[in-house]
Amino acid sequence: MANKLNLTKSFELYEEALNLIPGAILGIRRPYNFVEGEYPIFFKEAKGGKVIDVDGNSYIDMLCAYGPIIIGHQEPEIDNAVIEQIKTKGFCMSLTQPIQNELGKLLRKHIPCCEKLVLMKMGTDATTAAIRVARAYTKKVKILTCGYHGWYDAFSEVHGIEAGIPEKLYEDFYEFQFNNIVEVDQLFKEHKNEVAAVIVNPIHTPGGREVQEPENDFLKTLRNLCSENDALLVYDEIRTGFRVDMGGAQKKYDAIPDLAAFGKAMGNGYPISTLVGKKEYMDVLVEKVFLSSTFFPNSLAQIAAIKTIQMLEREKVLETIAENGDLFANQVKDYITDSRIPCKFSGAPWMPYITFDPDPNYLYRKLREEFYRQLIRQKVFLQPFHHGYIAYRHTKEDLDYAAQAIDNALKSCKSLI
Ligand SMILES: Cc1ncc(COP(=O)(O)O)c(C=O)c1O
Repeated sequence: MANKLNLTKSFELYEEALNLIPGAILGIRRPYNFVEGEYPIFFKEAKGGKVIDVDGNSYIDMLCAYGPIIIGHQEPEIDNAVIEQIKTKGFCMSLTQPIQNELGKLLRKHIPCCEKLVLMKMGTDATTAAIRVARAYTKKVKILTCGYHGWYDAFSEVHGIEAGIPEKLYEDFYEFQFNNIVEVDQLFKEHKNEVAAVIVNPIHTPGGREVQEPENDFLKTLRNLCSENDALLVYDEIRTGFRVDMGGAQKKYDAIPDLAAFGKAMGNGYPISTLVGKKEYMDVLVEKVFLSSTFFPNSLAQIAAIKTIQMLEREKVLETIAENGDLFANQVKDYITDSRIPCKFSGAPWMPYITFDPDPNYLYRKLREEFYRQLIRQKVFLQPFHHGYIAYRHTKEDLDYAAQAIDNALKSCKSLI
């Protein structure tokens, strides 16, 4: 249907990068995570809800940098505050700057479990710190875990010595299935009095599979099980924080954890994360628990986070995203039903994702490839193995266009059935 894009410059840069960077590109951004040969590899600029690749192709950016872009790219109010700080005050100093307290008060105002907090940079910083705090507080070692929580040794999906992660670093971690409370209960029984914490993404976002919301009071029951077993409940709100609600998924589902990690959307693209939690637990950081980085007190991203949160408050950003996301979802669901292609839409309204139903003949792989090939050719940037996101600056026209492109891509898939 649609023509292949000109990606000459992307591939030239890729060839050059092969000699500079192992694998040319890090991790999830590598070409094999898209449709190889069809997707651009380098972007050169981004504004609002759009991104432009190095060959000049302009896309509707529905991946939003994997989550941080909640408002839009190049948001003047945020960027100008950052630029002002650079020009007039500086931001990297040997002592902490008072802006820390201002951001802390804003976080505490919005996030239900936040009595105290620490500011860091990456999502992985916050989830790793959560494990350390939980172990120090409970004096227990084992962790029950579900979902992705970053690149810390024990969270890594690939482990074993070939992956540079000895199995012994993984042995106190036990995985459970999302929404499977029976399994969690069983694990608590098997490891009685040994579990320090349960860490879970309150909305489950497994790679390549449907986004899942909690069902049957899963989070509330998890809450009770943790309390009964003197283990801390930790939410990884890196994707859900400042996206599904100002107070994260804990507010939306009214099931409050002991600790929670926030990152991504809280800074609209600037590198910032936070571990928040109840005072009693967080206070192990006063003396016992070591937490330090040269860049944690660097205030630049803290300013961006304050401005981002203020904009979210003032402009009802999340309400708009939810409304637009629902409209988009309804449109796409209708197209999917009409097409009769075996695929599903999940993640509405915040994290739209189209996944193809697995079958024994692996037809779904061909359908997935064709679908995402046709989408990128129509310049809608979504990822075959990862859900998308909706940003405030996506206009209704952008989303209508994307929905139409999805309809076209589904039609093209029909030739494979
Ligand atoms: C749910 C979740 N937790 C933790 C992380 C790690 O965050 P970062 O990549 O900023 O270290 C991510 C990153 O994608 C994530 O999606």
